[in-house]
Amino acid sequence: MPVRRGASTPDAAADLDVYAEGVRLMRERSEQDQSDPIGWWYQSLIHGNPGATGWQPGEPDDWSQCRHGSWFFLPWHRIYLMQFERIIQSLTGEADWGLPYWDYTDPNEIQVPPQFLDESSPLFDPDRTLRPRTVAAPTWQRQGTFAAFGGRPQTAPGDYHRGRFPGDVELNPHNVVHGFVGGDMAGFQSPLDPLFWIHHCNIDRLWEEWLTLPGRANPEDDEWLNTTFSFPDPEEGRRTVRVGDVGTTAAAGYSYDVLPPPDELRPAAMLADVVENPRKDDDLDLVGASPGKGSVRSGAHIDVEHPAAEQRLLSDAGPEEQQARGLFLRLENAGVEGGDASSMWNVYVRIAGGEPYLVGTIAPFGLAGLTESGGRQTITFDLSEIADTVAAEDTSAVDVTFEPAGPDVEGEPFWERAALYTTAG
Ligand code: C2O
Repeated sequence: MPVRRGASTPDAAADLDVYAEGVRLMRERSEQDQSDPIGWWYQSLIHGNPGATGWQPGEPDDWSQCRHGSWFFLPWHRIYLMQFERIIQSLTGEADWGLPYWDYTDPNEIQVPPQFLDESSPLFDPDRTLRPRTVAAPTWQRQGTFAAFGGRPQTAPGDYHRGRFPGDVELNPHNVVHGFVGGDMAGFQSPLDPLFWIHHCNIDRLWEEWLTLPGRANPEDDEWLNTTFSFPDPEEGRRTVRVGDVGTTAAAGYSYDVLPPPDELRPAAMLADVVENPRKDDDLDLVGASPGKGSVRSGAHIDVEHPAAEQRLLSDAGPEEQQARGLFLRLENAGVEGGDASSMWNVYVRIAGGEPYLVGTIAPFGLAGLTESGGRQTITFDLSEIADTVAAEDTSAVDVTFEPAGPDVEGEPFWERAALYTTAG
C-alpha cells in the first residue's frame, strides 16, 4: 500500500526522484503522441483548459472534467490523483510508489520544495510567478459540516465544472496556493506544473485530517456516495471509481505518513457544539445585510438588526456559551472583474468600529472564467472566533474592508450582497 510522505522529509527524497522520472516519461509520451491519455499534456486537459471555459465540442469527452465549487471537489481530485499515482507507478515500475505532498500548513515549509526549483529537473516549471505568500487565516479545521469544509451539493447540472458553493478548504489554502505559485498554476490547466500534484496531495491529506476531528463526517447522501468518475488507466484502459468507495484513505488504498496536528487554537466549546448538536448549514439565520452591491474597493457596511444577532453579539452569557454559536459573513453571488488567480485580497472585519481582524482571503482561482460566462460564487468566512474575542459596547454594525495581498494586485472582486448569519443556536 503506497505511503505518501512530506516532500521535505528525508524519506521522500527517493520518492521525488521517482516522481521526476515519471514526469519525464509522461512528457515524452505526449511529445510522441499528444492524444496519449496517460501523457502529461492529455492529463492536464482532463483537469481543464487555462480559461476554465469547460468542455468544448470536438474535444475528447474526458477533458475539462475537474469539479470545483461543490461537494465533488474533494472526491474528484482524490480519484484524479489516485489514477495519476498509478500512471507513475506503471511507467517507472515502482509499484508501491506514493505521491509526496507539499505541507505548506507548516510555516517552515511555505517555500516551494527545492527539488522543484532546480532548472534541470523535470519538476521545474519556468512559468511560475511565485508572489510573496499571503497570510490567510487557516479556518478549514473549524468547519463543522462537510458543506462548509468541502463544498455544498452541486445545485445545477451546469455547475459540474465550476459550481457556486466552494467549501472553506477549497478557498484557503487550495485557491491561495494556486495564486501564490502563479503561471500554469493560476489557470485550470494547472496540472502542467508538477507542483499541482503535490499541492493537491496535501489538500487530500487535509480532508483525511478533518475527518479525524470530533463530529466531522462525509456526506451520507446517495447522490454523493453513488457518483462515479472515470479516468484513463495505464493497465486497464479506463477505470471508474465510486465516490463512496474512496471516502477515506484506508478505503482508497493508500496512507499518509503523518496528519497535521490539530490546531490548538480551536475553541473547544464550538467543537463540543458540533459533536452534540451537529450543525446544519441550512440552519443559518440572516441577521443583517449590506443595502446593495459592493466590491473590494467599496467594502461593505452591515447594520445588524435581527434580535438573534443582538443575542449573539451582545450576550452577557459566559464566553463558553457565546462560542457555542457561530457567526458567518457571506459575499453572495460574487464575481471578479479583471485580474487573475494571483490577484488576492485579504478580508478584514471590524465589529462596532473596533480593531480590524483578518478573517480570510479572496483567492479567485477560476472565478474570472466563471464570471465571464455569467456564473457567480458565494464566498463564506467564519467570524465565530473573532466575534467572541471582541468585547464591544456597541455592536450594531459590522464593517468589512479589503486589502490587496501583495503588490501589483489587479482586478476587482464584487458581489450582490454582503450578509451576516448566525447559526440557529
Ligand atoms: Cu481542480 Cu487545484 O484544482
